[in-house]
Amino acid sequence: MQLGPLNHVGVATPSIEDSIVFWREIMGATFIHDTFDMPEQGVKVCFVDTPNCQIELIEPLDEDSPIANFLEANPAGGQHHLCFEVPDIQVARIEYEAMGKRILGKTRIGAHGTPIFFVHPKDMGGVLTEIMETPKQEH
Ligand code: CO
Repeated sequence: MQLGPLNHVGVATPSIEDSIVFWREIMGATFIHDTFDMPEQGVKVCFVDTPNCQIELIEPLDEDSPIANFLEANPAGGQHHLCFEVPDIQVARIEYEAMGKRILGKTRIGAHGTPIFFVHPKDMGGVLTEIMETPKQEH
């Protein structure tokens, strides 16, 4: 494995609207992207730019959302996952599987429109880890 760039920090929130106010007024964020729904993941998503990475605000779309349990345990929200980029998602998946890491579900298209998968926090030092293929036209 080769450690790639930290693409974003996922932060679960009960209200993206309230979180946007926090990131703008308390943290000084100046570029906050439009919020959009990802119905197939059961979440609403909003990216906040920081100078070297993004914060991904995620709010459940309904009570069946994969982050509903997290918010039940952490009603005010909190840090949910870290996302690292890899050059090739299929190669990365094979490597994680070969290391015996538990991958959660299948590879799917993530919030940046590139393939992603999640690795179980119990196999990752307690951190739910999203692995994302680097967008081809990023720069
Ligand atoms: Co993410």
